[in-house]
Amino acid sequence: MTDILKTPAVEGFIRMCEDGWLQGWHERNGGNLTYRMTEEDVETARPAFTAEPREWHEMGVACENLAGEYFITTGSGKYFRNVPLAPAANIGIVEINDAGSAWRIVWGLENGAVPTSEFPTHVMNHSVRKRVTGGANRVIYHCHATNVIALTYVLPLTDRDFTRPLWQSATECPVVFPEGVGVVPWMVPGGVDIAKATSKLMETYQAAVWAQHGLFASGPDFDTTFGLAHTIEKSAEIYVKVLSTGLPVRQTIEDESLRAIARDFGVTLNEAFLD
Ligand code: 13P
Ligand code: ZN
Repeated sequence: MTDILKTPAVEGFIRMCEDGWLQGWHERNGGNLTYRMTEEDVETARPAFTAEPREWHEMGVACENLAGEYFITTGSGKYFRNVPLAPAANIGIVEINDAGSAWRIVWGLENGAVPTSEFPTHVMNHSVRKRVTGGANRVIYHCHATNVIALTYVLPLTDRDFTRPLWQSATECPVVFPEGVGVVPWMVPGGVDIAKATSKLMETYQAAVWAQHGLFASGPDFDTTFGLAHTIEKSAEIYVKVLSTGLPVRQTIEDESLRAIARDFGVTLNEAFLD
């Protein structure tokens, strides 16, 4: 029988948890990750699914376009650093019901574990990203990216006030997230309100900053999603370092240069963030 831990979806999921831990973005149980499995992923993993169906749990949100989907998810209160050591206790696979409103565990999340407390936010974001990308997006990743969080104490909490310095602090940024980033004001985590606020932004953006909390990133696969979070955090780190020198900024990437990057790399920058 196939070892579920050796299937590409589960293996890739575990690797991303480890990568995030190694970056220092997952203190204690901080952060969470979900992956919407392909039909092939599900069929490969199915032999390992629980024989007895488990009970359904209502999510408090309903996403019809996710009916019948399967997600790999980190567990609530589980530590990313423990995922590679004991995957079945720290992550699991859940099935979504026909109404898109409830989940049940089909593998993992052993010993009474449940999906991340941010599961409603992940599910709503998956629903939006699945729709706006024509089904391409499959990964939602929440990390406590240090420098992104630091900037939420000193920058105005608007999409424009975050996007511009991020674009200007690393030349590849306008290419990686040409639509910019969204910003969610401080909100209580884990609830339906933050889920709604974030998913509204994800209609436009691939990533959203959570004030005084972290980053939400989406993408078609683990590499692209991790790469997006990494790029945003690296740019934030550079900007924090620039601000920390206390010296005046003598030069940056001006708007005409941002436009030149967009032209040569064939991307369309969000004009709302250019002068
Ligand atoms: P979970 O352990 O429930 O995933 O919560 C961690 C977190 O970062 C909440 O925002
Ligand atoms: Zn968090």
